Amino acid sequence: MVGSAAAYAIALMGHASSIVLVDLNQALANAQAEDISHAVPFASATRVSAGSYDDLKGARIIILAAGASQKPGETRLQLLSRNASIIGGIVSEIQRVAPDAILIAAANPVDIVTQIVTRVSGLPSTRVIGSGTILDTARFRTLLGRYLGVSPFSVHAYVLGEHGDSEVLAWSSARAGALTIDKVAAQVNVPLNDEVRARIDDGVRNAAYTIINGKGATYFGIGAGLARLVEAIGRNQHAVFSVSMVTENVEGVRDVALSIPRALGSDGVVTDLVPELAPEEHEALRKSAEILKAQVDTLEL
Ligand code: 2OP
Repeated sequence: MVGSAAAYAIALMGHASSIVLVDLNQALANAQAEDISHAVPFASATRVSAGSYDDLKGARIIILAAGASQKPGETRLQLLSRNASIIGGIVSEIQRVAPDAILIAAANPVDIVTQIVTRVSGLPSTRVIGSGTILDTARFRTLLGRYLGVSPFSVHAYVLGEHGDSEVLAWSSARAGALTIDKVAAQVNVPLNDEVRARIDDGVRNAAYTIINGKGATYFGIGAGLARLVEAIGRNQHAVFSVSMVTENVEGVRDVALSIPRALGSDGVVTDLVPELAPEEHEALRKSAEILKAQVDTLEL
């Protein structure tokens, strides 16, 4: 569903000339491609089809969305053993047909999957991007914008670290327009106290659990986010997203994949743009990095 939702969003936004869906379940891939292709006359000139790995020859960007998804109540990290083995096989097929593609990992636990794909592929880390906390960042901007009465388009705030339970909402660097959120809150006369912050934090951190309880999976939000990454890479925009990537040093933790804001262009990550953080945010980011690193160390990579 994440792959199909991404394909649908990419087709609607017109960010690709051609999209190929590959799935073990060929009948499903065919049906999704056909359904999405019927949206094309209303939207863009994208060619949408289903195919095999060989049909990915020449692809500039490949989104890896295959994998089991969380059962209600299951954490993203608990998925690890089920998804780690699926990934290796997929990466070797991709390398055979499209060794120059930028890879976007979108299966959970996405940070660990990003690290596995980077290692197994041997690609430079800047060319293997995980969707990371792009969705958590979108959720943060939505809730904060709604509370302050400002469009999420004009909220500049990021979620850092793991895409999962230890993620870090970077409150201290959040802005609406060019103002700190405290100034905006004072101007529009709403309190931005600890209780409000805790409510927004909880809404961001637990959004996926709530949606999974209601409909079994999340896919529209991440589909749109992945389409936006494809646009930024395809058009060499150097736009900034909180994507995951294997990073040399995060708060003293070495070689760990997690999200910090990074500019994306046609060669992948152009540069990292770590925001200024409060001491407790530095500490939370270090903890998040340590949790991920401990998980990675259990794998034979
Ligand atoms: C999400 O955050 C489950 O990772 C997925 O929506």
